[in-house]
Amino acid sequence: MKVYFTRDIPPNAYHALRDAGHMVLVNADERVLPHDEFVREVAKIQPGALVTTVDDTVDAAVLDAAGSQLQIVANYAVGYNNIDLAECAKRGVVVTNTPDVLTNAVAEHAVALMMSLGRKVIEADRDVRSGAFASWQPLGYLGTEFSGKTLGLLGAGRIGSRMAHICAKGLGMHVVYYDVTRNELLERDLADAGGAFFCATPDAVLRQADVVSVHVPLLPTTKHMLDGAKLATMKKSALLVNTSRGPIIDEAALVVALQKGTIAGAALDVFEHEPQLTLGLTSLPNVVLTPHIASATHEAREAMAQIVAKNILAKFNGKMMPNEVKEQAR
Ligand code: GLV
Repeated sequence: MKVYFTRDIPPNAYHALRDAGHMVLVNADERVLPHDEFVREVAKIQPGALVTTVDDTVDAAVLDAAGSQLQIVANYAVGYNNIDLAECAKRGVVVTNTPDVLTNAVAEHAVALMMSLGRKVIEADRDVRSGAFASWQPLGYLGTEFSGKTLGLLGAGRIGSRMAHICAKGLGMHVVYYDVTRNELLERDLADAGGAFFCATPDAVLRQADVVSVHVPLLPTTKHMLDGAKLATMKKSALLVNTSRGPIIDEAALVVALQKGTIAGAALDVFEHEPQLTLGLTSLPNVVLTPHIASATHEAREAMAQIVAKNILAKFNGKMMPNEVKEQAR
């Protein structure tokens, strides 16, 4: 079978597939194929499996171009908002993702963003490089401590829970969370570390959190979950961290909120119109910006590649796929 990778990923995936006798075809360009080019490539290759990333929109045009050979779309990501699940289902094409193995990487990056923002690491680094370090400053770079502060999670699934664990047990933070369902596992995990308190509405989290971290998937119901009105319910001193998906935050409203001091700062790994940035974002002093790298550890990316191969091989061999995505979970 032909397996087409839209981007080059760790080679363990290629080895596993080749060892099983399959043909691996990789877009070796270090760029995302524009949609029309993606459609043409898929039409030309007629793959049995398609390995996509967050930047590839898998819609009816791609699926039609792929033809009847296509059995599986294996997304090299945990999020799968880039894939039209209904169109895949109509054609009997299964979809898989790469959960669990990137949980730690993403949660650790969320913590890194929170601390970089709260302790002005990026601003200070910039100043040292530009020669602005003239002396120790009694009143310079004053940030915030996290111990004793409240972390508010919007979404307490795998990644949110892992962040809560690190922040409660490692930093001594209190944890409040909103989700569509209560997470009793998280509550039990943090029982000896001050607990994790379920809030029935996002507003209840936003009102009391010193740091709000976003961990919900992108769905029609979560798009612009944080709009101008919601941002205004946050504390003026609060920091916002997003490692989930950009469109969950109304980015134009966020820029205004940061300009006006409605909230104190934001650290973003994802953007509403990725890779484009909303005008004004990069000139703000109170933001930390990273280019969608939360899962970018050697450990996570290699394990994700292994999962991709496992799912494809299971499908080709008529076995149960470990990570089939059946429907939007929430
Ligand atoms: C990355 O954003 C992912 O969903 O894995």
